[in-house]
Amino acid sequence: MTQDEMKKEAGWAALKYVEAGSIVGVGTGSTVKHFIDALGTMKDDIKGAVSSSVDSTEKLKALGIEVFDCNEVDKLDVYVDGADEINPAKEMIKGGGAALTREKIVAAISEKFICIVDGTKAVDVMGEFPLPVEVIPMARSYVGRELVKLGGDPAYREGVTTDNGNIIIDVYGLKITNPKQLEDQINSLAGVVTVGLFAHRGADVVITGTPNGAKIEE
Ligand code: A5P
Repeated sequence: MTQDEMKKEAGWAALKYVEAGSIVGVGTGSTVKHFIDALGTMKDDIKGAVSSSVDSTEKLKALGIEVFDCNEVDKLDVYVDGADEINPAKEMIKGGGAALTREKIVAAISEKFICIVDGTKAVDVMGEFPLPVEVIPMARSYVGRELVKLGGDPAYREGVTTDNGNIIIDVYGLKITNPKQLEDQINSLAGVVTVGLFAHRGADVVITGTPNGAKIEE
């Protein structure tokens, strides 16, 4: 089975968490793309979605699913999204697709975070995947220097502007043994919009696509 087929297993398995009549929080990425396809089969049973990126919004609308502005919705029952790395405590690195800030906002208004991944995303200690940080452009050099002080090796993601008009710095070489502390440290730097560590708000359910079907951990 290919990696994409395993992503598809996870994406379709998440459908069982979607309640009829609800508005669903929808993340971003190649695994979520499969979830959006699955959600299309329920489009007449749900009210719609709140989306975490322009890309997912376009995919949802193309399937005829109504997309609500996040400010129109107080809370969501479920948010379904992928991850770049996930540890046994269900803490994650996200932002490989540069959508981390909107993902964090939609996750924050959701009761349940359903993380959909293939098996390659599971790690004991996060950090092998470079940690994405969304930064206001004028703070790029300052934040880069501060990230070096925190033990990282920052790299400007060339040619990428986020949906919010900012830049991404990817931090290499970290061994993230205390994700909540590092999330706080990086978020407190002037000019940082969001760090792609989802430790304070981790996942509640992890669905891993495997050659034997979807494995669900609640
Ligand atoms: C988008 O910014 C990310 O947080 C994605 O959720 C993450 O990169 C996982 O993407 P894939 O499902 O494409 O691996």
